[in-house]
Amino acid sequence: MAFAKFYKQVARPVLFQLSPEDAHTVGFHSLEAVARIPIYGKLIENNLRVESRRLEQRLFTLPFKTPVCLGPGWDKPSKFIHAAEMMGAAAAEIGAITPLPQGGNPRPREFRHVDEEALQNWMGFNNEGAAEISKRMQKAYPARVVASLRQVTNKPILLKLSPDMEIDKMVELCKEAVSAGVNGIILTNTSIDKKLLMRPSEKGGISGRPLKGKSREALTAVAAELFGRVPIISSGGIADGVEQYDRLALGASATQIVTAVPFVGPTVFRDINLELLRIMERGGIERISDLVGSALRR
Ligand SMILES: Cc1cc2nc3c(=O)[nH]c(=O)nc-3n(C[C@H](O)[C@H](O)[C@H](O)COP(=O)(O)O)c2cc1C
Repeated sequence: MAFAKFYKQVARPVLFQLSPEDAHTVGFHSLEAVARIPIYGKLIENNLRVESRRLEQRLFTLPFKTPVCLGPGWDKPSKFIHAAEMMGAAAAEIGAITPLPQGGNPRPREFRHVDEEALQNWMGFNNEGAAEISKRMQKAYPARVVASLRQVTNKPILLKLSPDMEIDKMVELCKEAVSAGVNGIILTNTSIDKKLLMRPSEKGGISGRPLKGKSREALTAVAAELFGRVPIISSGGIADGVEQYDRLALGASATQIVTAVPFVGPTVFRDINLELLRIMERGGIERISDLVGSALRR
């Protein structure tokens, strides 16, 4: 609890003086720096990681320790996988990575809406390019990269969609993609529907709390048709264990979170997983597999 309080009362007000993009960078660097001091690293890890067999499952042939992952957007430079792991993310999607390096759009390209716990971004694909990033990954995690590649003979392909598509079209597209062999679906990306915010910035996809409704709606519609065929990953406005529980019950096998990281802080994965375990306990739900899609079976 002390960690959460420290973030809310001390770290967050300081970070929120900076632009969202600079705050991300300072946040990662601080976490990585503290983690390198062995005693603090272990302390943080022990404090933030939730381990419970009840939350474990295999997805895309890989083991997932919990159903809460870090979505793309937080680690755009693909440099902070260690910090993501330390925070207790079950998996981290890096990038987006493009074949050649790209600088992305000019700054400012990310905007914060504090009262609504939302972000707006039009970052573009700022990254150092596939060759450089894969070199760094192999240097940092050679054993793990090789091990994971060995486990996955055919790399899984996941389709991620915008919440702004017409729902019927979205469902049709997902069905076609699954028939064509896609391994999973991610719902949803950010929205450009400015009505979601009280005072939207001119540009940028909206993420965070205001996206919750659209993201749930997409999950519900697609799960009604495709649940059980391929795993569905839910993304958009998830920031607590209650929402996490609902998304799993609605048919998501796991979730990806991005915007809740700066708003809730580095304890967000732990908090979500602990709350999820408490709700499962109260409902007599033994394992994550009993929860996923349970609302569809009623
Ligand atoms: C700053 C930022 C950058 C993002 N960059 C990407 C990206 O490169 N690729 C992608 O698929 N989604 C990207 N997203 C979308 C998120 O992965 C996620 O789908 C969306 O923000 C909704 O989740 P959230 O409400 O938990 O943030 C980005 C989001 C943010 C906030």
